[in-house]
Amino acid sequence: MPLVDSKAMLIYAQEHEFAVGAFNANNMEIAQAIVEAAEEEKAPVIVQISQGAIEYAGENCLFAIVKSLADKANVPVVCHLDHGVDFHTVIRALRAGFTSLMFDGSSLPFEENVRVTKSLVEIAHAAAVPLEAEIGKVPDAAKGQLSPEEVQKYLTTPEEAMEFYERTGVDSLAVSVGSAHRMKVQSARLDIERITRIRERIKVPLVLHGASGVLDESISAAIRAGIAKINFATELNKAFTAGIKQKLSDDPGLVDVRKYGSFGRENVKKVVKEKIRLLDSANKAEEVLKFIQNKKLIEDKNDKSKIVE
Ligand code: G3H
Ligand code: ZN
Repeated sequence: MPLVDSKAMLIYAQEHEFAVGAFNANNMEIAQAIVEAAEEEKAPVIVQISQGAIEYAGENCLFAIVKSLADKANVPVVCHLDHGVDFHTVIRALRAGFTSLMFDGSSLPFEENVRVTKSLVEIAHAAAVPLEAEIGKVPDAAKGQLSPEEVQKYLTTPEEAMEFYERTGVDSLAVSVGSAHRMKVQSARLDIERITRIRERIKVPLVLHGASGVLDESISAAIRAGIAKINFATELNKAFTAGIKQKLSDDPGLVDVRKYGSFGRENVKKVVKEKIRLLDSANKAEEVLKFIQNKKLIEDKNDKSKIVE
């Protein structure tokens, strides 16, 4: 089926207490693994292409891969820009056809983050594409051990989240609640009370980044507290690399990329299937699709009634 956008999908997840898995694809094999896993689990899915992946492979190439996989899939698939850190990358992704966008202004001063996010929300909405933004900052574990004071400094406060949401009109909001990007071990516990307090003030779906390092029970608690989109990247990279390393160590003479690339792909697929079940999005594809279609019918009807003869 054609790519769908993330707006209705995330609203539905939020209302029904599950989360949609958002998985980063850096190459064709990982994108294939994500979509195949979603089909086998009958789950809605978000395939994410980060700014880093765009620098590696180009937005048009990765978008074309995700689009062609979605076209053949029997579950709803979103193609989302992950961590667009500048205005121009977000616009390029929009032009390429991405059906969901993220602007990450979390390194900017608050006022500057509000200004750029707001202008991108206006542009994205004119093209009927939803936009995610980030307030507070999900730190990067790969940059070294963070002290407890540093972690605290980065956390999202409910007040700043509310002000940011009201002033920008974003469709979903990434919040810093105890996770960190690029953790290679699952050991982080989330601040569930903070999620609840943010949820009480913000209507739109909340997003958890850096989920590879978060304990399973904390992820389940976060969903119950109101997180509706959960991002995984490092675990997929780890699984892909481990599958290839294993195959090449078993058969060091192998040179055909297809003969070891498929082992990386199978390993990623296993991880994605486990995460889909953890997020409780397995077997939700059909109901999500019905909700998206109904919402679209209502919007089309409202648009027609606005046309002045
Ligand atoms: O935006 C992508 C994610 O936040 C992934 O984080 O690599 O720690 O799983 P992760
Ligand atoms: Zn992230």
